[in-house]
Amino acid sequence: MRGLGIIILAAGQGKRMRSAVPKVLHPLGGRPLLAHVLDACTGLDPEAVRVVVGHGDERIREAFPAMDPGAWVLQPQQLGTGHAARCAVDALGDFRGDLLILNGDVPLLSCRSLSGMLAAHQSGGHDLTLGVATLPDPSGYGRILRGRGGDITGVVEERDASEAQRAIREINVGLYLAPADFLRAALAALDNRNHQGEYYLPDIAGFAARMEARIGSMTVDDPREFRGVNNREELAWMEKTLQADINRKWMERGVTLKDPDSTYIDAEAVIGEDTVIGPNSHLLGRTVVGAGCRIDGSAYLTDVRLADAVHLRFSVVLDDCDVEEGVSIGPFAHLRPGTVLKRDVHIGNFVEVKNSSVGEGTKASHLSYIGDTDLGRESNIGAGTITCNYDGFAKHRTTIGDRVQVGSDTQLVAPVAVGDDAYIGAGSTITKDVPAGALAVSRTPQQHMEGWVAGFRARKSK
Ligand code: UD1
Ligand code: CA
Repeated sequence: MRGLGIIILAAGQGKRMRSAVPKVLHPLGGRPLLAHVLDACTGLDPEAVRVVVGHGDERIREAFPAMDPGAWVLQPQQLGTGHAARCAVDALGDFRGDLLILNGDVPLLSCRSLSGMLAAHQSGGHDLTLGVATLPDPSGYGRILRGRGGDITGVVEERDASEAQRAIREINVGLYLAPADFLRAALAALDNRNHQGEYYLPDIAGFAARMEARIGSMTVDDPREFRGVNNREELAWMEKTLQADINRKWMERGVTLKDPDSTYIDAEAVIGEDTVIGPNSHLLGRTVVGAGCRIDGSAYLTDVRLADAVHLRFSVVLDDCDVEEGVSIGPFAHLRPGTVLKRDVHIGNFVEVKNSSVGEGTKASHLSYIGDTDLGRESNIGAGTITCNYDGFAKHRTTIGDRVQVGSDTQLVAPVAVGDDAYIGAGSTITKDVPAGALAVSRTPQQHMEGWVAGFRARKSK
């Protein structure tokens, strides 16, 4: 078997996206389009990979910091897909194996299809193998031209096609496989005499036919795989399609999705068996949800780790936090980065927690802000408690021990510490450390003016 090199074309602007973001960076399933293509290629274990970038190349490189810097090839001007391929082939020097060229905007091609294509190409001894598909509506794609005997004679772009050619429903998927030497010759022969004045990569098919080279084709049956993303509508279709696949996978693995159509699970998220997820839930990034969890609905989770048997009640936003078994959160709660909730914690409605750890069994049930706090176990945070962590310059920490009762409407002005078993009277502003086991009260003593109301009313009604 000859060695394999892979070229991915990603230098175009993606004009039809109408976006400041390079097309291949638009996310699909939470990851850039290009990441999907790279994944499919990695499975082929290629000797060399080259990604042609041009428009927005800095941004693209930054989005893939782990990529070998030598893999990027600059196409300084976008003169067409044929020119882009030539830039990559030049960068590969005297590479002798087969070269697979893919468009960076066809994100769901599977590694299985690609290796099937490679096998057909090599066993058939082809000089060129093209990926093709037959569509009920082929509009937008290049059409495959075949001679009387059925042999491929070329590819014509829609804009350059005659009426009769436009009626052809067999399309060019944008997948090309050829020995490097053949490709060099084919690319050198391209011209830009066409509607767009560009060097078209698909024209290598016409060159191959003129050379009477052996041209093979591999049919890609699944529309998910061959569709390219050229505009926002196609991106939305892809997203829906990918989401349906991901959702199906999790349902097969024992997860209940009450409304798959409104459940958004990123490709890297993981969910345990018997978890039940309600409508309008988003499990984004590297979110991990354990087994037997209940997510009631309208949950927005980004890079969150939930252990087993966690209950997220309606409408919660969780970002980069760790939640242990048996915890319940919400409704209407916000957990921000750096939050760790130990077992059986309860975070109730309108509670925000940031960069804090909350010990086992502790409860903050209503209307609180807990920021930069180390909270012990089995404590209770009364309604309306606020940790005042910011003095306009720096954030300060609050420490609260085990079995502490914080009365409602308490402010804890950080840095401050409350010892184990302490009680804080409702309505207190705590500015000094509270010793373990003490009662701290800071509110003004209550006074009564006997009979005051009758006098007041009499004065007012004069
Ligand atoms: C291309 C094919 C078309 C095929 C379709 C499949 C050409 C001329 N046409 O059309 O036959 O049916 O893909 O999806 O190739 N790019 C560069 N440099 C350039 C121009 C483009 O790197 O100078 C990259 C783009 O970033 C993109 C890919 O090449 O990732 C394809 O370009 P695009 O403009 O999307 O081609 P299509 O019109 O979709
Ligand atoms: Ca395209």
